[in-house]
Amino acid sequence: MSTPVVILGSGAHGIDILDTLLLSGEAYKPLGFLDDRPATPEVHGYPVLGPLHQASALDPEIRFVSAIGSSTGYRSKPALFQSLGLARERFISLVHPTASVSQWAQLGLGSVVLQHCTLSAGCRVGDQVVILPACRISHDCQVEDFNILATGVILCGHVQVEPNCYLGAGALVRERLRLGEGCLVGMGSVVIGSLEPGQRVAGNPARPLKSRNP
Ligand SMILES: CC(C)(COP(=O)(O)OP(=O)(O)OC[C@H]1O[C@@H](n2cnc3c(N)ncnc32)[C@H](O)[C@@H]1OP(=O)(O)O)[C@@H](O)C(=O)NCCC(=O)NCCS
Repeated sequence: MSTPVVILGSGAHGIDILDTLLLSGEAYKPLGFLDDRPATPEVHGYPVLGPLHQASALDPEIRFVSAIGSSTGYRSKPALFQSLGLARERFISLVHPTASVSQWAQLGLGSVVLQHCTLSAGCRVGDQVVILPACRISHDCQVEDFNILATGVILCGHVQVEPNCYLGAGALVRERLRLGEGCLVGMGSVVIGSLEPGQRVAGNPARPLKSRNP
């Protein structure tokens, strides 16, 4: 029997997740989305069922997967998930059929790996991590809870990404570095040294960001 699934967030990542659920054969039956600010009342024929806080009121058989995360709101992810009041086990982890995840890699609950990503042997990905298309996570990396890796991020081997970071599209991180909790790495950056918690960097080589929007 198919597991009924509701997607949290109906934006672009939500559509990629819908696509992934539909490609997963009989395993999952997408029911629709929850979203606080939906752009449309339905997406590709799947309804937006209500705001996020309705998640805990839905049938206990329903499982969830999250598409939430952006370069501006990434730090609020843990508080948002706590406010939903959903047990960890209510979330599924999801891998797009074109992604390649080593049999010796681990993926936590609520985490998604989208089109054409690779996760090499020894990688450990925590809970509620979003890995957008075409990321390359090399051997023995650790990507902890709530991280967001935008399209085309490359982590060389043994990189540790502490919880709740945002890595912009095409960012490249040298092997054996540690990115501290809550860091932001701008798109196209080349990170050649470890980052302290909360650091925001960009460029090649990545340097602290002089942001107009802190
Ligand atoms: C890093 C980022 C969040 C900064 O955004 P911001 O806070 O609005 O910063 P600003 O655009 O005000 O830029 C601030 C400065 O940083 C520079 N900068 C911004 N992003 C940069 C980047 N990725 N690489 C190099 N320099 C960058 C700007 O040129 C500017 O420099 P200046 O002060 O010398 O003019 C944003 O540029 C970014 O990379 N977002 C990720 C986008 C992405 O990957 N989307 C994924 C979709 S799948």
